[in-house]
Amino acid sequence: MAKFLRRKNEGDKMARGLIPQEIIDEIATRLDIVEVINEYVRLEKSGRNFFGLCPFHNEKTPSFSVSPEKQIFHCFGCGTGGNVFTFVMQIEGLSFPEALEKLAQRVGVSLPKRELTEAQKELLEKKQKKYKLNLAVSKFFHRLLLETSWGKPALNYLKKRGIDIATIEKFQLGVSLPQWDGLLKYFTQKGVSPKELEELGLVVPNNSQTGYYDRFRNRLMFPIWDEQGNVIAFGGRVLDDSQPKYLNSPETSLFHKGKHLYGLHLAKNSMRSEDMAIIVEGYMDVIACHQFGVTNAVASLGTAFTKEQAKLLMRHTYQIAFAYDADLAGSKATLRGLDIFSDYGCQIRVIKLPEGLDPDEYLRKYGKNEFNKLVLNGMSLIEYKLVKLMESTKDNSILSKTKIVQKIIPDLLKMDSMVARESAVKLISEKLDLTETTILSELRYFAQQQQKLPQNQDIKYKKRENNPKQDFPRNKINRTEAQLIKILFEHPHYLIDVEKAGGKELFTYPLQQLFEEIFEVFQEKGEVVSTDLSTGDNSKLLAMVLMQEFRVPDLEKAVADYIKILKVNKLEKEYLDKQNELKEAEKLGDGERLKEILSHIEWILQEKRTLAP
Ligand code: CTP
Ligand code: MN
Repeated sequence: MAKFLRRKNEGDKMARGLIPQEIIDEIATRLDIVEVINEYVRLEKSGRNFFGLCPFHNEKTPSFSVSPEKQIFHCFGCGTGGNVFTFVMQIEGLSFPEALEKLAQRVGVSLPKRELTEAQKELLEKKQKKYKLNLAVSKFFHRLLLETSWGKPALNYLKKRGIDIATIEKFQLGVSLPQWDGLLKYFTQKGVSPKELEELGLVVPNNSQTGYYDRFRNRLMFPIWDEQGNVIAFGGRVLDDSQPKYLNSPETSLFHKGKHLYGLHLAKNSMRSEDMAIIVEGYMDVIACHQFGVTNAVASLGTAFTKEQAKLLMRHTYQIAFAYDADLAGSKATLRGLDIFSDYGCQIRVIKLPEGLDPDEYLRKYGKNEFNKLVLNGMSLIEYKLVKLMESTKDNSILSKTKIVQKIIPDLLKMDSMVARESAVKLISEKLDLTETTILSELRYFAQQQQKLPQNQDIKYKKRENNPKQDFPRNKINRTEAQLIKILFEHPHYLIDVEKAGGKELFTYPLQQLFEEIFEVFQEKGEVVSTDLSTGDNSKLLAMVLMQEFRVPDLEKAVADYIKILKVNKLEKEYLDKQNELKEAEKLGDGERLKEILSHIEWILQEKRTLAP
């Protein structure tokens, strides 16, 4: 986990380094965290703080608090927290510079334009030009569909499929010309070179390399966008039953198949407000969903679901519903997607569509309400896997049931919550008609076997690394360290005493990193405020630390006592380490080393006596 955090921290810090600290300070002082958060969360004042329902996890009673004095937020429920910058980053899914830009605008501070090198400028201009050309092409297809006789057959086709005009507009549907060079001619006459069209995958060189022809002919055209709404590629569907049904743009400098989701720029806002994303397979499914008011749907476009796509969604929600076709390909794709999301700690459900229907067909047949019911009744990961395993097993013998249990156990072990695991065990026992005791004993046996295998020892650990929702578990945080840091933050002149007494060496993970940064900032600026912290992790830790309530009658004495306790803790840890080293040295019969360690232990004991006589 430490490695993961460090990597993340460095990213945040680097992003910060590009913007002068004075400007960050200026923005921070003009902002009021309560005002900003109030736009996302209904806050009510209670005592010195404001409370509301946490926007980062599901809850019924408010445990999300905002402190106007300290300019921090902290959720006592899920442990998340931070300053006004990290709040906006988290809730909007923005990077630090993006969040800063948004907040700078709000308070009327202008950020310095980052100076680009000539090469960077050129690259950027080239890219902008490509987006512009793609946009022009999408408008060309769209106008052909709506305003010319070329569009009639496609328009009829859409009408037959029940797509209304508002949806055609929303998804900018279009049509390509039947000629081999319709697009080529139109755009070269406007001064675009064939090479530029080729770079976007719109035309293809002919066999004799003497010229080009249009890739898309006589197809219903679907522009594909990136998350920001730039047109990056196209999909084209035939208007009859000929093959291939769909033709898509090839990989280009703008379009990498596994890295985008169709419809994301249109769906991301509802994903946030509904706190759920629905993943479907095809263009027509997304389009039907939106037309029927299910506006949080995106499609993975017939490719195997990728980690990049999962991460795109997780910027907006951790609750994911799969609505893939019920066929074999669909269920394989579902399983793969499920594993990716569950490894990231997302909550998943699988929507069970009747055999042979895709979301488009289902919505048309049964309507939005029935579809929403299917979503609500979606299966959990375990249930879905169980059903699939049961379908693939013919007989009903104890042996095959046991095999199913064994196959599903790794997923049970991955579950973080005891409650979830318990209900999963119950479900399995009901479905397979086995007692819960049988399943639990299989589980225990499996866990024991796992521990014997060295490569599996850190299964849980690995999972944490990937889990974006993982917070610092409260019991990992040393209370003495946490209380001392709160005092230091509020009375930073004591930082000097702590530094003299050993500084960061007195602290342990994860508060050590927080202390280090507070001290660093203090040395630079002579004071520390919550928005000074450069990493999301540190500002989360700080919020947690500052929200502790405890009384200190005598500050001077308290600081001295805390330092003493931390010194003793450190010595005790060293003592244990030395004891272990001692055993090692004894085993090896290393006399020199033994003497060395013993004298070190002697020193530790002496130190301890002077601290706590
Ligand atoms: N797909 C593709 N190439 C194909 C077939 C499918 O790229 N030859 C992709 C498309 O993105 C398509 C998705 O896989 O949208 C799902 O395929 P399918 O279910 O066949 O398409 P639908 O979107 O359901 O299209 P329709 O309802 O028009 O048949
Ligand atoms: Mn379909």
